[in-house]
Amino acid sequence: MKIDLNTLTFGFPAAERDPDLHACFVFSETYKRLEKREKTIILGNRGSGKSALFKQLAENERRKGTVVIQLAPEDYAYELLAQVLRSEAQGSWQKHGAYAAAWKHLIYITVMKHLINQGCRFKKGAEARLYAYLRDNYEGTETNPIGMMVSFMKRLELLKVKVDGYETDIRVRKLKRLYTLEDLEPFLADIRDVCRAKRVIVLVDELDKGWDASEDAIAFVSGLFHAATSINATETNMSIYVSLRKELYDNIPALYDDAQKVRDIIEYIEWDELGLLELIGRRIARKVPELEKVSFGNRWNVIFSETLDYRRTNSFNYVVDRTLYRPREIIQFCNDISDKVRKSEVKDFSPFNYHQIAEAEHGYSESRLKDIASEYRFQYPGLQSILETFRGMTYSMERDQLIDHLIKILLGEIPIDADAMGWCESFDQDKLIMVLWQVGFLRALAVGGLKARRRSGSEYLGIHQISSLNLAAIPRFHIHPMFRAFLGMKEPKT
Ligand SMILES: Nc1ncnc2c1ncn2[C@@H]1O[C@H](COP(=O)(O)OP(=O)(O)OP(=O)(O)O)[C@@H](O)[C@H]1O
Ligand SMILES: [Mg+2]
Repeated sequence: MKIDLNTLTFGFPAAERDPDLHACFVFSETYKRLEKREKTIILGNRGSGKSALFKQLAENERRKGTVVIQLAPEDYAYELLAQVLRSEAQGSWQKHGAYAAAWKHLIYITVMKHLINQGCRFKKGAEARLYAYLRDNYEGTETNPIGMMVSFMKRLELLKVKVDGYETDIRVRKLKRLYTLEDLEPFLADIRDVCRAKRVIVLVDELDKGWDASEDAIAFVSGLFHAATSINATETNMSIYVSLRKELYDNIPALYDDAQKVRDIIEYIEWDELGLLELIGRRIARKVPELEKVSFGNRWNVIFSETLDYRRTNSFNYVVDRTLYRPREIIQFCNDISDKVRKSEVKDFSPFNYHQIAEAEHGYSESRLKDIASEYRFQYPGLQSILETFRGMTYSMERDQLIDHLIKILLGEIPIDADAMGWCESFDQDKLIMVLWQVGFLRALAVGGLKARRRSGSEYLGIHQISSLNLAAIPRFHIHPMFRAFLGMKEPKT
């Protein structure tokens, strides 16, 4: 079997740019629940595969004849929204409700447009009525989604200001009509009628692009959440799917009210080791088709030496252990390893060994640490400076040792960025442990009957392996291996 080192790569960092995604897609249980429309709100960390799920769903649905509408990332512009709209304080209006109405309006109008663009040119019945409605009300108006949204919000804002200034029945009624989309009401039956023949799905991804945690950004997302769940509850042949980064979701309290009502339609993307082995295994066979007949594990063992010199570790365990179980991470680490080998003197392929993996690990570790810090920049600004305080330490520590270190940070004895100091001031050491656990930096010694999604049997578990944990009862911690190389952390003496 000839393996060409020059072309040996394991995929792209983002699903949007991954031409092999459909050929290599891992059909997880999550995907199946989406396809069956049991779940429509997808939460996942950065790089966990939100866009991949949507891209695959779009492909499958198109093949079935479904009308697929994808709202593109360029179209969200939080900055623009904040510039053109008054703030809640200035306008004395409730933005969540306004955005929810604006989203519903945008979604219905966009669906109508797509529906009448299908089929033959001569429309009859319901299609003809939708066509006439759009022609009379929306011809020549904004076609880009954010523009439509802004103009809807502007109309609301204007009416609201007028109502507050001088309340008349007519103005109040007009405002109510706009909020409740009364104008659209007579056409909903027509939309349903046309949808009987063609199902419609709307996919809204990448809401975090340009995210600035502003009032508008929060209301924009919570409004969408509300609009999507309410449309999904009323429409049978139309589904709105929304993906959101988990930590954004956790930071939008306005979502909780809705979330409580719709808990059963929320799906968290979670991976385990077998899923990630399949993900890489499929990509290996894409490059080396002779391996299609062998198991995913054996495909791995053709590319990586099965056992590494380092503590006789299994190579897959070593690599997957240096991730937070996100596809983008394992793809990136594997790519970094093959890149390093390509750039070295090696001419012909032989299975990657520990030395080569370790060569790539430092750069990978650095970029992951910086990525994680940037991922949490709104929640925990300056996080990187806190992670850096562990540089050169031993990666395994008793609870007391960890607490000592954190107290020194909190007292200012170990310097951190001013940004981080800002939020740390109101924290104690236990809360700081919680933060480091949440971002995946700490792993906890498994005590008692803790169960985790882990095969390789380490005693230390991270947040990606176990969902709930009583941190107060953990006697010992490890810094997650992904961060150790960059921080130059030492092995414990024993
Ligand atoms: N189920 C899957 N099968 C195959 N490849 C996948 C799967 N899920 C994710 N991937 C791959 O993992 C990488 C990261 O996935 P993706 O871009 O979808 O992450 P994301 O959650 O959208 O990240 P971000 O928050 O940055 O937008 C991509 O290369 C994608 O092709
Ligand atoms: Mg994405």
